[in-house]
Amino acid sequence: MSSNKETFGKTVGFVLAVCIVCALLVSFSAVQLKPLQQANKLLDQQTKILEAAGLLETAGKDVVGTYNKFVDARMIDLDSGEFIEGDVINFDERRNARDTSLSIKPENDIAGINRRSNSAVVYIIKDQAGAVDSVVLPIVGSGLWNLMFGYVGLEADLNTINSVIYSDHSETPGLGAEVLNPKWKALWPGKKIYDDEGNVEIRLVKGGAKANDIHGVDALSGATLTSNGVTHTLQFWFGEEGYEPFITKYRAEGVK
Ligand SMILES: Cc1cc2nc3c(=O)[nH]c(=O)nc-3n(C[C@H](O)[C@H](O)[C@H](O)COP(=O)(O)O)c2cc1C
Repeated sequence: MSSNKETFGKTVGFVLAVCIVCALLVSFSAVQLKPLQQANKLLDQQTKILEAAGLLETAGKDVVGTYNKFVDARMIDLDSGEFIEGDVINFDERRNARDTSLSIKPENDIAGINRRSNSAVVYIIKDQAGAVDSVVLPIVGSGLWNLMFGYVGLEADLNTINSVIYSDHSETPGLGAEVLNPKWKALWPGKKIYDDEGNVEIRLVKGGAKANDIHGVDALSGATLTSNGVTHTLQFWFGEEGYEPFITKYRAEGVK
C-alpha cells in the first residue's frame, strides 16, 4: 500500500516537473525569439515597400541597406494631409484603429475597416540625387475572409500607379489570393486613380477591362468578392477619408 502511494507521489511529481520544464522552455523561447520575429516582420515590410517602389531587383540581397538609402518613412495626419512628427517604426494602423482617441469611424466605410487611424505612414522614395522619385502608400480593406493589407506605389504625380502589392491577406489560393499573381500585378503600372475632375475612378472590372481603360484593371476571375474588396479599398484610401487631402496638397506643391 505504502509503496503504491510512493509510486503515485513520484508519478505526480515527475509529471509536474515535466510540465514546469516545458512551460519554462516555451516562455524562454517566446521571450528569446520575440526580437527575431520583430526583425523578420520589419524585413518583410521593407521588402514589400521596396517591391511597391520597384526597387526589389536593385536591392538584391541588401534589403535593409537599399531601404535605408532610398526610402524616407514619414507620418501624416490624414484629415489635413500635413506631415506630422511620430514614431514611424512602431506605427500600427490597426492598433490605432482600436483606440477611439487615435482613430475615427469613417462616414463611408466602403473598405469595411470599421475604424481608421487619424495618422498614416507614407513612404517617400528618393532617387540617387535625393529627389522624390515615387511614393508608396499603405492600404487596408476587407476581402472575402478578412482584412487585406498592402501597398500602392505611385509616380511622383501622385496619380499614376506603379504597383499594387498585397502583403498580408487570408484569401483563398487560386481565387482571391491571385492578388499575388505576377500576371495580375503586371496589369497595374500606368493606371490612373483620378479623372481630370479629381474623382476616384480606379476599379477592377469583372470580365476584363477594355484596352484603353486607364482607370480599369481586370478583376480576379472566380473571385468577384475579393475583387470588389480591392476596388472598395482603393476607392476608400484614395478618397476624402483616406489620402486625398495629402495627395491634393502635394500634387499642387510637389512632395519634398
Ligand atoms: C471554399 C471557397 C473559397 C472561396 N474563396 C473566395 C475568395 O477568396 N475570393 C472570392 O472572391 N471568392 C471566393 N469564393 C467564391 C465566392 O463564393 C463567389 O462564388 C465568387 O466570388 C464569385 O466570383 P465570380 O463571379 O467571378 O465567379 C470561394 C468559394 C468557396 C466555396
